[in-house]
Amino acid sequence: MRVAIERERRVGERRVAATPETVKQLTGLGMTVVVEAGAGEESGYSDDAYRAAGASVEPRIDLGTVDVYAHVRPLEPERVAALRRGAITVGLASPASELDTVRALADAGVTSFALELVPRISRAQSMDALSSQALVAGYRAVLEAATRYPRFFPLYMTAAATIPPAKVLVLGAGVAGLQAIGTAKRLGARVSANDIRPASADEVASMGGTFINLELEAEGAGGYARELSTDSAERQRQLLSPHVAEADILITTAAIPGRAAPLLVTTEMVKGMKPGSVVVDLAAESGGNVEGVVSGQDTPVEVEGGHVTLVGLADAPSTIPADASRLYAKNVANLLALMAVEGRVEPDFEDEVVAGACLTHDGVVRHPQTASALGLTTEGTN
Ligand code: NAI
Repeated sequence: MRVAIERERRVGERRVAATPETVKQLTGLGMTVVVEAGAGEESGYSDDAYRAAGASVEPRIDLGTVDVYAHVRPLEPERVAALRRGAITVGLASPASELDTVRALADAGVTSFALELVPRISRAQSMDALSSQALVAGYRAVLEAATRYPRFFPLYMTAAATIPPAKVLVLGAGVAGLQAIGTAKRLGARVSANDIRPASADEVASMGGTFINLELEAEGAGGYARELSTDSAERQRQLLSPHVAEADILITTAAIPGRAAPLLVTTEMVKGMKPGSVVVDLAAESGGNVEGVVSGQDTPVEVEGGHVTLVGLADAPSTIPADASRLYAKNVANLLALMAVEGRVEPDFEDEVVAGACLTHDGVVRHPQTASALGLTTEGTN
């Protein structure tokens, strides 16, 4: 089977869906891997390294000859249309927002696997790209804050003066938030965090953070957070206010699957922060946890005596492309390995991981929420 990896087309995307390491894994499973020339350039993987790992590198790949197509960002409908019926795609598909692509995948008779849909069960952890990329994003958010913060993170006791440690507040302690806590701790900051999932108190403590218990809990299906009621959300903002005012660095990562990001911090709350403080909102792309945040931009918020920098971090995993790709490519290869039978990729829809991750198959949108967003049933009828 011919597995293809092209250079990502989306502007600013620096990751790649296979690395020389995963080329070896796939060829070891009996697959043939073809890589578009320059596909790994932005993430530091050369054409020669792919060749040495067993891939053939081609200046241009004829998509009509491809059996399996691995990608990072959702494919454009035109690329989907170039695939042959029965081809398999694996990658992030953003099914909630990229409905035109989902329709194109179904119309083209492509069997597509969306890494966002991989069930979050222990057996599938090695294929969980949401987790692997959230890890990168959480780490990056802290570095972003640290380089913009006009002070040190650690405590320094020098002959000249004693410098106190920075106070970092993390809101949303899922995978990204926990990595942010760990990274900020390693830099020497004092870290506290809040989340509305009951389990998060222990997780925050295990990363060395202090959990702020607001006695607001909302856990729904699959261990995910539920949306708070309007009153509880307002109460959460009130209770968080003094903690936000005390923080030097605020990192927000809160998300509710399938919903806009919850608003946790108002402009008034940002204005209560000290001059020089930095806010990094990792939820900016899905609406933001902080009022006024603009995805991909910095916004200075005037406060008495200076300003607070509000950063809407976009494409965070792509800013650490080598390791983000290394993890991502393993997620892709592990999902393909799960479906591999004697060098072929043969999805077994009896397997809950395979069935759960499948977005389209044989002209049908199999993911119920996406099918219903398109006005279809999972049997493919209107
Ligand atoms: P996410 O990206 O959907 O959300 C980030 C965090 O925001 C979550 O911890 C959520 O509880 C929190 N949040 C939502 N609303 C909030 C609010 N109003 N205030 C404060 N925090 C708020 O979450 P992520 O990182 O994808 O993890 C979600 C769950 O999935 C966790 O329980 C995690 O342990 C679990 N998980 C399980 C895995 C597995 O078993 N394979 C792998 C990864 C995650």
